Amino acid sequence: MDVLLRAEGLMKIYGAGQSAVKALNGVSLEIRRGELLVVLGSSGSGKSTLLNMLGGMDRPDGGRIRFGGKEISRLNDRGLTAYRRKNIGFIFQSFNLIAELTVKENVALTADTSQDIHIVEHTLEMLGLKEKQNSYPAQLSGGQQQRTAIARALAGRSDLLLCDEPTGALDYETGKQILVQLEALSRQHGKTVVIVTHTQEIGKMADRVLRMKDGKIIEITENDQPVPAERIEW
Ligand SMILES: Nc1ncnc2c1ncn2[C@@H]1O[C@H](COP(=O)(O)OP(=O)(O)OP(=O)(O)O)[C@@H](O)[C@H]1O
Ligand SMILES: [Mg+2]
Repeated sequence: MDVLLRAEGLMKIYGAGQSAVKALNGVSLEIRRGELLVVLGSSGSGKSTLLNMLGGMDRPDGGRIRFGGKEISRLNDRGLTAYRRKNIGFIFQSFNLIAELTVKENVALTADTSQDIHIVEHTLEMLGLKEKQNSYPAQLSGGQQQRTAIARALAGRSDLLLCDEPTGALDYETGKQILVQLEALSRQHGKTVVIVTHTQEIGKMADRVLRMKDGKIIEITENDQPVPAERIEW
């Protein structure tokens, strides 16, 4: 088994004294190269905090994270930024598109060589965004914004895609399409995909499901036969 990322004993504490919150309280896990991992847990259980640590958005207060054998939990800001750029695609619930850039410019943001422009165009086509490529985020529906964020993650060629509630802000059908696209990124493009969600049923499409509670992982289950996203209902 090829391990892409390994986290050991992660701690994250917000605040101090009486009001301190252990958002992560000793989290250890491996993320396998090419797997589709779903993270479940109730609100406040630490899912977004975990994703932010793994993606190098923030540093843990304890424990360590190794990506491809390299320790990233103690990198300085510059090192963390470089790590994120090179290795991580983020899909946030709030999309994080840049308002001043068009759809195409947003998607091309992480594609930095000239040959990548073909990938950008192909990706826009694939996600049904070609007609919107010159629009700005404010001119798009929520689903179109989400697809733009996914296109950017795909065109960026990062190995690890971290998705925080990718269907949260969308209607059912659009949410389902997003899951189908994330599944394709994993199954067809070999990306490692981590999806954080509140929706239990979404766990059925995963290779593994990880459950969190009170800053801890309480269960990890393997699905021998993941259900195609197309067939999942919630
Ligand atoms: N920046 C912060 N400052 C203080 N406390 C925080 C901060 N971020 C998160 N927390 C606290 O850490 C805990 C874990 O939060 P986190 O956002 O990781 O939960 P979550 O599982 O993603 O929840 P949700 O499903 O609602 O998104 C919560 O108790 C939260 O209040
Ligand atoms: Mg969250």
